[in-house]
Order: sequence, then structure tokens, then C-alpha cells
Amino acid sequence: MRFSFEHSGLSEDEYKESANFLASYAADLSEIASSGAYAKPESSVCLPGDGAVLNLVEDAYGEKVSKTLKYVIVIGIGGSNLGTKAVYNALWKNDGPQIIFLDIPDSKMVKLSAEYISQNAASPDNILINVISKSGHTIETIACAEYFINELKKKFTDVEKRTVVITDENSELWEIAKGRDIYVLPIPKSIGGRYSVFSTVGLFPLKAAGFNISAFREGALEIRSKCFSPEPGNNPAIMGASFLVSWYKKGKIIHDSFFFNPGLESLGKWYRQLLSESVGKSEFAGITPTVSIGSADLHSVGQLYLGGPKDKTTQFVESEGGEYEAEIPKDRIFQNLSKALDGKSFKNIGKAILGGVKISYEKRGLPFIEVSLGKITEKELGAYMQWKMIETMYVAKLLGVNAFDQPNVESYKNETDRILGNL
Ligand code: PA5
Repeated sequence: MRFSFEHSGLSEDEYKESANFLASYAADLSEIASSGAYAKPESSVCLPGDGAVLNLVEDAYGEKVSKTLKYVIVIGIGGSNLGTKAVYNALWKNDGPQIIFLDIPDSKMVKLSAEYISQNAASPDNILINVISKSGHTIETIACAEYFINELKKKFTDVEKRTVVITDENSELWEIAKGRDIYVLPIPKSIGGRYSVFSTVGLFPLKAAGFNISAFREGALEIRSKCFSPEPGNNPAIMGASFLVSWYKKGKIIHDSFFFNPGLESLGKWYRQLLSESVGKSEFAGITPTVSIGSADLHSVGQLYLGGPKDKTTQFVESEGGEYEAEIPKDRIFQNLSKALDGKSFKNIGKAILGGVKISYEKRGLPFIEVSLGKITEKELGAYMQWKMIETMYVAKLLGVNAFDQPNVESYKNETDRILGNL
């Protein structure tokens, strides 16, 4: 992964000021990572190097996954599924087990998913149901799990044996699952949902679906040490956080992640949750993250971005093509249209569009940073996600808010429980 802050519009002094402010926090994070202890909310930084977590995941894999697995059904919401979805959709391929995500209690979604699995799974070994809820009582997750497991039971009576629950040790869900002899995996107590992708929450379903979680962890470990460096020029997390907060304080309250790769939309949504839940804490603290996909969204929000209020910062994220490369055929049907396309590959076209967008941003004085991912792999995604998690901790520190709670999400959950109780 490569970074460029050339067009960030900030001076070296501005970066230095944030770096000085964050120096002791960076040292704290580094200490937490080397301690490997889960005493602090920042302890998610321990996860990529934690061999015990890997062992738990491998044991569960050994017991529950065989070559005949075809469908992994991940039932969870927010921090309990967005990280897995981000990696799965970025690396999406035609072979290997398919993951089906159930989060919203939407009748059509749960019914058709249950119907599809019942029709296509010939044996219980073809399916694995993974119910994930840290608190163990999120209403959406429990509703989807109740319905789905019950429907599948009509075909496979011992479907509970094909279920793995991931939750806080000793949550009510943990106790009930254990009581029914359902396989359970813990999440370290101090790790919140949006920081949990390197825990059992992300590692187990990804491994079950055939992804290389060792490489995913390795990518995170490699960038982690850079993100603790006190030298801002070498620390992409401090640079990124300074960029966001310095501009936020000058009125750029929206931060757009503009991905020039449609496979990365879910990664953008994972980050959207991470930043908004971590820093949106008061009327005076909260950067609004948006996700845009190039080049489709140029034909949707491009006018607003290039012509509207200058209230946004942007990070452009591009990636190297993988094994797929399409080209404009020599024998063209629409020969006289867009002559510039002659002899070009889709890669050339994509690069030209992104190049054009960056020049237009520059001309209008819109600040942006550039992130170049290599080929999209587990390792690259692990690095990106670890970078963003540490960067977000720094953003919260600079804004003086708690990056790890979500008191107002709890308020909607409580109100929903109350309304349901009265219905
Ligand atoms: O990041 C968070 O903490 C939240 O988004 C939670 O992940 C989300 O509310 C789901 O909660 P739970 O995992 O307890 O079901």
C-alpha cells in the first residue's frame, strides 16, 4: 500500500502539530500491542499478533468445516458483519464456499435465503450458520437467527450442530448456546464490534469461506508498527488523522472515500461505520464519512463534489488490476465513437478517468490524499483495515472523544425493545 499526501493542502507544521499531540498516545498503543493484554479498549491492536485467537479459529474450523461446505450464513449486524463483508466482497470469486449475509430483519431477505439454502444444500455439511453478536441481544441478529435456524431445521433436524455462535463470554447468548450444545467462540471483552475484524468475528467466517487469514493478519502486523511511529512522515495513521481533523476544524465536515474499484464498496461501508460510530459523539464532534465508487458515482455525485460546497475532504483509493484484464477489441462495432478508445485496455480507461478527476479536484482546490493498494489480496486488505482502525483512534484522540463507545446507538436499541414490548 502506498500513500501520497501531496495534495492534502496541509503544511508540514500542521502535520507536526498533530504528531506532537499524538506522540504519547502512539507510544501507549505500541505498548498495548507488545503487552498482548486485553485490558484497554485500544487492545484490538493486539489481535493480528495473537496466536491464541488463531488457535481458537483453527479448532472451530477443524471441527465444523469440511470440503463439502458450500454456504456460510453470517447472521450479525454492524461491527459483527461489516468487516467480513468488506473482505468477502473485495476478494469475491466463483469458487469456494459462498457467504450469505443476514442482518436486516427483512421478510423477503430471510425467507428467500432460507428457501435458497434448503433447496441447494443436500446435506448438513454443506452449510454453516454463524451467529455473531458481541452483546448477544441485538434484536435484528436474534430475529434473523431464530427464523433462519428454525426454517433450516425443517430439512436438517440437527442444524444446531452446524451452527457456531460468536459472542462475549458469559453473555446470555453464550449461556443459551452452551446449554444447547452449540459451538461457541468468544470475543475479547474489551474489543468493540467495529474493531473486531481480526478477532474470531472476522477470522472464523473468512477462514470457513476459504480465505487466507494468515496473510490478512500479516498485512495488519506489517503496517501496525508504522502506525505507532512518532515520526509523522513515516506514520500513515497520524498523517491520515491529521488530514481529517485539521480540515474538519476548518469546516470540512464530510470525508469521502472514493474507491476506483467497485469491489471495494463494502470496505468503504466498513470504514464508514468505523469513523462515524467512533467519532460522532456530540454536536461539536463528528466527521460524516461518505463512500463513492468510481467511475459510476461521477455520474451521480460528481457535479456536487466538483461544483458544490467545499465542505469535504477526499481520499482516493485505487488498486492494481488482478488477473482480469479486458481490452477494447480491434474489430470495433461503434468505430467512429470515442476514437481515443482504440487499442486501449479497461485499465488505461480507468487510469485516465481517475487522472482526470484528480486534476479537476486540484484545479478547484479540493484537498485529497491518495492511497494505492496493490493487487487486492487478504494481505493488502488486512493492512488497509489495520491502518484505518489506528487512524480512527488518533482522530478520536485529536477530537477529544471516546472512540470506543456508541451510547446513542444503545438508545435506539433500548427504545426499540420498549416499543416491541408494547406492541
Ligand atoms: O461497532 C459496534 O459496536 C456496533 O456497530 C455493533 O457491532 C452492532 O451494534 C451489533 O452489536 P452486537 O455485535 O452486540 O450484536
